[in-house]
Amino acid sequence: MAIDMNNFSTDMTEKKAILSEKKLRIGIIGTGGIAHSHLKAYMHQPDVEIVAACDLIPGKAEKFLAEYGIEAPAFVDFREMVDSVPMDAVSICVYNRNHCVCAVYALEHGLHVLLEKPMSVTLDEAVEICRAEKKSGKIVSVGFQPRLDANMQMIKKIVESGELGKVYYIQTGGGRRHGIPVSWSETFIENDKAGLGAVGDIGCYALDMVLNAIGYPKPLTVTGRATDYGGKDPASYAEVGKPECAEKFSVDDFASAYIRLEGDVILDFRISWYMHMDTTGDTLIIGTKGGLRIPSTECWNGSFDKPMTVYHDMAGKPVQTEIPLIKDGSDLWDKKIRSFLNAIITGGEAPVPTSQILYNQAIIDGIFRSSALGREVAVEIPEI
Ligand SMILES: NC(=O)c1ccc[n+]([C@@H]2O[C@H](COP(=O)([O-])OP(=O)(O)OC[C@H]3O[C@@H](n4cnc5c(N)ncnc54)[C@H](O)[C@@H]3O)[C@@H](O)[C@H]2O)c1
Repeated sequence: MAIDMNNFSTDMTEKKAILSEKKLRIGIIGTGGIAHSHLKAYMHQPDVEIVAACDLIPGKAEKFLAEYGIEAPAFVDFREMVDSVPMDAVSICVYNRNHCVCAVYALEHGLHVLLEKPMSVTLDEAVEICRAEKKSGKIVSVGFQPRLDANMQMIKKIVESGELGKVYYIQTGGGRRHGIPVSWSETFIENDKAGLGAVGDIGCYALDMVLNAIGYPKPLTVTGRATDYGGKDPASYAEVGKPECAEKFSVDDFASAYIRLEGDVILDFRISWYMHMDTTGDTLIIGTKGGLRIPSTECWNGSFDKPMTVYHDMAGKPVQTEIPLIKDGSDLWDKKIRSFLNAIITGGEAPVPTSQILYNQAIIDGIFRSSALGREVAVEIPEI
């Protein structure tokens, strides 16, 4: 079956501001680590006013606003914030388990949503968000800012150029050797807050990098295994001096999966927060006419430190073409926020639409179902 090329229509290169005539009123739900990146980027926009913030930890939202000299009301309950302060949109920066409840409530109350990644914990929640979005007529953009990196966009351009021919195999993931994220917040390792570990934190980026490049074909089946050997071992926290985290650890720290995608594409995926290995390999996109090697590092996060290479044949001989690294100095957070605002102003499609990220979430959901059942599972995505 052919890949739906219409998925290529989203233009993620938009950098130019389309300024709103009246200030857009923005609220922030969840004022932990990443909310600071949202707020700083909003403050760079001349047509934005931060009108409220909220965090379920008493006093945290007040402190957050005060740090930036913003005079606006702070709340503990996001419903109270949405109900009492008129606004156009919210940034949802809460931990994963609360993405769905906050997004659905905001949409039901007529607000546009910039939702942090991963979209949700389960596929059911992702479907709920998509349905609420459709019903509301508002937009939800999911927080995959690496898509705005010029090198990342080059991957998609290379695939779209036809240089690789028909893509039939992809290997992606990479991952970290020692990188369980407990230095700024321990919410990432607790199941009742994060719900997902390495797969939801960084695996979703690797999936987005390659799926976006090939037009987000539908996933059909998943065979996966997620494990927690590193997270459960106190020795894994030696560098951060937090051995007690091993007790708390209740998510995945490593996963591998074999995914069949519509259009006869195989996706071979691995991700790690902790492993006794430097990398699980570069990202490889292999097609009938050429192959693209993307150096592992944290490229899925928009951090490229080596050039990509295209492997192809010239007059029957194998040759390699190096794609020079692009360092345009642009700020991915400013682009992420601006592209969201531009879509609100123009009534355009969300820069990172839920129609695509639903498939990302369906793969994640499949990995955990397959891991629990010990066998391959079919991916069934309900109509939105
Ligand atoms: N795009 C990126 O580069 C990026 C980077 C880091 C984290 N994230 C994502 O951002 C989200 C938050 O991560 P973080 O590092 O800021 O975590 P964090 O633990 O530092 O902050 C989360 C905050 O949300 C608050 N919160 C949770 N539920 C709430 C609710 N219902 N109402 C109000 N406040 C609530 C918590 O009290 C906490 O202060 C996660 O989903 C994570 O995956 C994205």
